[in-house]
This record gives sequence, C-alpha cells and structure tokens, in this order.
Amino acid sequence: TAPIYRTVDALRQEVRAWKRAGHTVGVVPTMGALHEGHLSLVDRAKTECDRVIVTIFVNPKQFNNPDDLAKYPRTEDSDAEKLAPFGVDAIFAPNPDEVYPNGFATKVSVSGLTDMLCGAHRPGHFDGVATVVTKLFLQTLADRAYFGEKDYQQLQIVKRMATDLNIPTDVVPCPTIREADGLALSSRNLRLSDAARRAAPALIKAMRTLANGLQQNQPIDQLTKAASETILSAGFDSIDYLELRDGAGLAPQTTATKTSRIFAAATIDNIRLIDNIPVFSD
Ligand code: PAJ
Repeated sequence: TAPIYRTVDALRQEVRAWKRAGHTVGVVPTMGALHEGHLSLVDRAKTECDRVIVTIFVNPKQFNNPDDLAKYPRTEDSDAEKLAPFGVDAIFAPNPDEVYPNGFATKVSVSGLTDMLCGAHRPGHFDGVATVVTKLFLQTLADRAYFGEKDYQQLQIVKRMATDLNIPTDVVPCPTIREADGLALSSRNLRLSDAARRAAPALIKAMRTLANGLQQNQPIDQLTKAASETILSAGFDSIDYLELRDGAGLAPQTTATKTSRIFAAATIDNIRLIDNIPVFSD
C-alpha cells in the first residue's frame, strides 16, 4: 500500500522532491470510506499525472450536525487496500489537530454559489469545504485536483475559489459513477435499509423523466410536480429541492438550455441523498 503521511511537513518534503524531478502531481481529496466513485477519480488522476496523492480527512468544519460527523465511517485500512492496485504514490491522512491547530482562525467563503441548493439547507457546510480544499491544494501543491460531478455545487464552488485566489491547481471534473439501477454511488447508500435501498433509484428515475419532458418542451411546473409526487410516493420522506439550474453559474431557470442541469436532494430513512444530471445528453 502507499505510504501514509500525517503531517504537512512530511508530505511537502516528498512533493518537493517530485517537483524537482519534473513530475506532475495530482490530488484526489476524499473523506475516506472509498467506493468506485472515488476510485474512478483516482484512476483518472493516475492516467494524467506522474504522481498522485489521495487525501483522506473527515473534515469537521463541513459537518453542520455533530451526530453526522461522529457517525461518518472511518475505514483507513480498507481504504489503503482499495487504493493499492492503482499505484497511488501517497495517502495524506492528517489528524484534525494538524489541519486545525489551536488558534486556527481563517475561513474561505465563496459568496453566492454557497447560499443556494445544498447551501441553503446546510448552513456553513460549503465554507467548511472551501476552507479545507484551499488548505489541501496548498498542502499538496498539486498541479491538478479531481472532483466528482456527483457533488456538482461543490465542484463549482471549488473552481470559483481556485480562480478567485489564483491557486495554480487545475480543477478537473469527473462523471458521476452509478449503480446498475441508476443510484449514484455514495458512502451514505450503505446506511439505507433494504427497503429504502430498493426505493432510492426512484430519485434518479424521476429526474430522468423530468429531463425528457424538458427536452420535449413540456411545461416545467407540471413536470416538477409530477416528479416530486413520484419521488414521495416511492418512499422518500421529503424533498429539499428539485430544480432546474444553469450548470455554469447555478442560476435558476424556467426553460432548459444546453448547459441546464436538474438538481435534487431528498431524504429517505433519515438519509439525505443528492443527485444531478444534465438535461441534454447523459
Ligand atoms: P467525499 O464525499 O469523500 O467525496 C470525494 C470525491 O469523490 C468528491 O469529489 C466527490 O464528488 C467524489 N464522488 C463521490 N461520489 C461519487 C460518484 N458516485 N461518482 C463520482 N465521483 C464521486 O466531497 C468530499 O468528500 C469532501 O467535501 C471533500 C471535497 C473531500 C472536502 O472535505
């Protein structure tokens, strides 16, 4: 398995040696509990970069619910084993004290993009993400960083942050990996009861039906209402949002354009699932 680094100093020393040798460096930021979605990013990074770092850090600043943070799976040994076949060059798995030592007082906050969709339902979440990702970019000094479109809003926020702060790390978007029945891979899927797991693909199915209707210029209000009803009658308890937005700036839309995406978050069995798809082609 790849060497595990716990401190920024130790990791930086290694990265500096790579850079002196002229190698390009890629990073895949994760919170561990790795599945095929994460591994698809690692695979892509390995094809495009000479050296690849996978970071595993359950970032306390992005959890607005302490219970959620406590329950987040921590499976470092099996994560390291899953990464071994990819020939990852380093795992960076710092302790919270290394990332947020006593006196830590800085916050990276991307305005606008963080207020809507998941941001509206999880106050402070995206500030926590932007802060830790900024730190990870600077800690790893990576040339490229790989993010999943599964968390599309996060991806847009990270891109904005890197551009605004002139951080010379290219943010590379990667497609969402799904189960055969369409459900997007997520570490949260493992917490679903059997019945909820069977019902969960109703979310993506309703989103695809909505996308088809929009492609055919059917009225968005009726389509959204029908999709919501389908999702709730399949067994979801509530829908946080089900919306059409522009994929570039996340502005709300009432008619679909080339760059439109459908965004949804809904809760089943007390587990909040999110997904998004483009209206045209997928
Ligand atoms: P985490 O949820 O572990 O996800 C790590 C990366 O894997 C993210 O870029 C996410 O979009 C991607 N990913 C998750 N499920 C995926 C799927 N089904 N298909 C493709 N990619 C998928 O996102 C985070 O961690 C954190 O917020 C982090 C960026 C690490 C900052 O703490």
